[in-house]
Amino acid sequence: NSSKDLAGLKFVVTAGPTRESIDPVRYITNHSSGKMGYAIAERAAKRGAEVVLISGPTHLPTPPGVQRIDVISTNDMYEAVMNHLEWADVFIKSAAVADYRPKAVAVNKIKKGEGDLTIEFTRNPDILKELGKRKRNGQILVGFAAETQGLIANAKAKVETKNLDFIVANDLTKEGAGFQSDTNIVTMIDKYGNMEHYDLMPKKELADTILNKIKSLLGRE
Ligand code: PMT
Repeated sequence: NSSKDLAGLKFVVTAGPTRESIDPVRYITNHSSGKMGYAIAERAAKRGAEVVLISGPTHLPTPPGVQRIDVISTNDMYEAVMNHLEWADVFIKSAAVADYRPKAVAVNKIKKGEGDLTIEFTRNPDILKELGKRKRNGQILVGFAAETQGLIANAKAKVETKNLDFIVANDLTKEGAGFQSDTNIVTMIDKYGNMEHYDLMPKKELADTILNKIKSLLGRE
């Protein structure tokens, strides 16, 4: 799709993992490479949209024409996203966000002792849920779901509880789906209950499929 069919629309895309510090030298994170979100940002910009990409730590180059904001933790990402609440027409939340962070970040490097180490975690804000609460009329909110069990039921529940327009559910149990790969296998479920399954395809092609669905929800067809 080489036409500028998304011209005039403002997109916020989140991508990559978030990282939560344990002490000055250690953190916990997840396997997200950022490929899915960067593919969406790249395709949206190519199709004429204004795109802000809010990215956790990745090794990927910024796609042409995209404004990138780098963040580290879930709290950083929350703030960067909320700063665009008024600006954005569309939010696509492809980042893999840490639900928990260590309750306290040790000031100094934690020294090893003889026994086990226990770290206590506290809940991070749910960015997607907050966006759903504050969504204004006409704004489009797209979430992702990554699950190793109960994918469809969990994804359906998220559409409702987080007030999404649709969700892209990737089945982490399948080869070529989810984290790190250049491909994905997903089911999209929208707020009307429509469910579409997509077999193995490049993340860049899936990006266009997601953008086409947004376009049709906006009545731009
Ligand atoms: O980056 P890649 O290597 O290409 O991998 C792509 C991907 C697997 C990371 C991507 O396709 C994906 O599924 N991203 C969402 C992963 C995730 O965090 O899923 P979840 O089921 O835990 O969260 C559901 C949704 O809530 C997501 O849209 C997430 O961005 C959002 N969320 C979650 C927790 C939180 N505290 N705040 C959030 O906004």
